[in-house]
Amino acid sequence: MISKPSINMKPYGALDRHTLINMVSLKNSVGTEVDIISYGGIITRISTIDKNGKFSNIVLAMESLQSYIEHNPYFGAIIGRYGNRIANGEFMLEGKRYVLAKNDGNNHLHGGVQGFDKKVWKMTPFVTDKSAGVTLSLDSPDNDQGYPGNLHSEVTYTLTNNNELNMYFTAVTDKTTVVNFTQHSYFNLSSKGDILAHKLKINASSITSVDRELIPTGEFMSVKNTPFNFVDFKPIGKDINENFEQLVIGSGYDHNFVLKYHADDELKEAAIVHDPLTGRVLTIYTDAPAIQFYSGNFLDGGTSNHDHSHGYRSGFCLEPQYYPDSPNHSTFPSVTLMPGEQYSMQIVYKFSVK
Ligand code: BGC
Repeated sequence: MISKPSINMKPYGALDRHTLINMVSLKNSVGTEVDIISYGGIITRISTIDKNGKFSNIVLAMESLQSYIEHNPYFGAIIGRYGNRIANGEFMLEGKRYVLAKNDGNNHLHGGVQGFDKKVWKMTPFVTDKSAGVTLSLDSPDNDQGYPGNLHSEVTYTLTNNNELNMYFTAVTDKTTVVNFTQHSYFNLSSKGDILAHKLKINASSITSVDRELIPTGEFMSVKNTPFNFVDFKPIGKDINENFEQLVIGSGYDHNFVLKYHADDELKEAAIVHDPLTGRVLTIYTDAPAIQFYSGNFLDGGTSNHDHSHGYRSGFCLEPQYYPDSPNHSTFPSVTLMPGEQYSMQIVYKFSVK
């Protein structure tokens, strides 16, 4: 059934007496639906059709605002100012040392203790004949989590009638700083069980090798003849338990794949996932130079959504981004943003069936 795209905004909960959290629901002309809340810009639901014409939710979600606040392992969230890890929570910029919040052992992860996944964003929904969307904006003050500069960020989610969820991230600063956003949805295209039978292809021929704390060593490892070879479709679970050093370190896949042609800042196909059970296909496009593939190794059933518990490897993340710990590696693509410049990054999730 073809209908016009639509939006609906309603209260979702409250952080305190003065801070209300809203949810915007986007719907396109082919019935795909995406829910986003103003807390963390979190995507709490993506409902897509399967090969039998049945709709169900394909992202992991928590059951309430309270559970997002208390135990969310970044499900669905906007990650900023810096996605992934910064070693020892420190970096030098223009001769000055900056010390960040440490929230992952001795390291800084996903923007710190109060990262953008925990901020309240202002939401402005919109609808056209071809799409339904929402723009989220946030002002992060100078020294937030230790980062320099007042940073104004905007993220626009647009659900099109072509069945794409387009995400456009921008930021401007008033002092030289570093920026590396991503989107942290955990997908399960079967809507149940684990994700090991999903077939994955990543357009990358190398990864940035990591040490025991998942910090890049500065070396690149070719994926050729290793369990990291996803150049052709392969079930996620095929090699995941191999006794291979990088896999053992990550407790599975938790690595930054360097995308081919990264000098080109055009949108490129980064990864495709096909779920043979439901026929669902997720294609991810981005202009970022890399994509973190995380196979849900730290999920242990400790969180749940009503009667649905989030078991071991019950979701995967494919997070387009710059390389982890780039501020400490002069050989990695630069994440520096200066006053007068605009950071921008785009991610597209395309939904289809086959
Ligand atoms: C990281 C994992 C981390 C997870 C937290 C991923 O982006 O790569 O190491 O545990 O986020 O949910």
